[in-house]
Order: sequence, then C-alpha cells, then structure tokens
Amino acid sequence: MAALADRIASFFSGNDSNTDEGLRDLFISELKSVYYAEKRAVDALGDQAEASTTNEVGSAFINHQNESRVQVERLEEIFRIIGIKVATHTSDTIDGLISDAKRVISETEPGSLTRDAGLIIAAQKIEHYEIAAYGSLLTLAKTLDFSQSAELLAKTLEEEKEEDRKLTILAESFVNNRSKEEEEKHPGSHHASRHIPGSDSNVTLGGPLGI
Ligand SMILES: [Fe+2]
Repeated sequence: MAALADRIASFFSGNDSNTDEGLRDLFISELKSVYYAEKRAVDALGDQAEASTTNEVGSAFINHQNESRVQVERLEEIFRIIGIKVATHTSDTIDGLISDAKRVISETEPGSLTRDAGLIIAAQKIEHYEIAAYGSLLTLAKTLDFSQSAELLAKTLEEEKEEDRKLTILAESFVNNRSKEEEEKHPGSHHASRHIPGSDSNVTLGGPLGI
C-alpha cells in the first residue's frame, strides 16, 4: 500500500487519474445529496415558520427559506458548470433531521415558547449537517480545481454559518428573557441576564441552547 504522502504527491502532479476520477464521482454524489437536502430544507423551513410561536423565530425561518431557494439555484448552476444533468440522491440523514423537526411540532403546544426552542434546536441540527456537506464539497471542488464551483459553494457555506450564528443568538435571547422573568418574580435571586460561555466566538457550541 502506497504511503498517503506519495499518493497525494502523485495526485497533484496529475499522475493519478484513478483518484481524480474517484474524487469527481464523489463530488457528484455529494452534490446530488446536498441538492436533495436543500430542496427538502426549503419546504421544511416553510412548515417550521408556520408552526413557530414568535415573530422572531418565524421570520428567521422565512429569511433562511428565501436564502435556501438561491442556494438551490447555485447548486443547479454547479451541475451546469460541470456538465451533468441536475439530479438528486435521497439522503436518510436529512430525512431523519426533518422528521425530528416534525416531531417537535407534534410534541409541543402550539403557541408555546418550548415549541420555538425545540424548532431552533431542530433547525440548528439541519444547519450543522449542511455546513458539513458544503464544507466537504468545497474541499473536493478545490482539490479538483473546480474553481467556479468552489466560489459558489464558499458563498453558500458562509450563509449557512451565518444562519447558524443567528440561531444561536435567538436561542440566547430565550435564555436571557427567561432569566429576566425569573428576576422580576424573585428579585435578587437571579442575574438579570445570563451569558452562554463561548458565545462571543464565531464557533457555536454543540447545541443552540448551550446545553
Ligand atoms: Fe441551505
């Protein structure tokens, strides 16, 4: 078995057409999966917005739904650029994550803040999946010298990360409002607001509610 460094050196010198072809196939397969995921996310975001309790959470979903429609078009553009037919691969991962979001809706009271908290958690799981998928596609595109595709993927990846940050900020506002209410009910027993450790950085914690 050849050492990884030797294989990589040979790949970049253009002598490893097997790897080149393999990575191209992998890129196409991942592209079809994320295209499927993005299209499913557009519909799911509409359902989540409709089910949400507060305007803030509802409009966050609607804004990201509009953004996701543009992301779908960008993916179609990539299919065109690399010269293959637009197609989807079903993905159990996104199907499962969307089922989880639906379960939040069926298991929480309409009009409750718990529902919004659950919807934020579900949405952020979907975002983290998309960030992983677009990040991997971007790496493959750069490796394969698909520079136009890489540019489009980098744009979407940045939007997904931004959405993830917005969801974290929304989740924090839930924690702070709850804390404020407790302070009003029992003055002096709680801090006026809480701060989630690490929330100043660009990197989000494991979950949106910091738990
Ligand atoms: Fe997306």
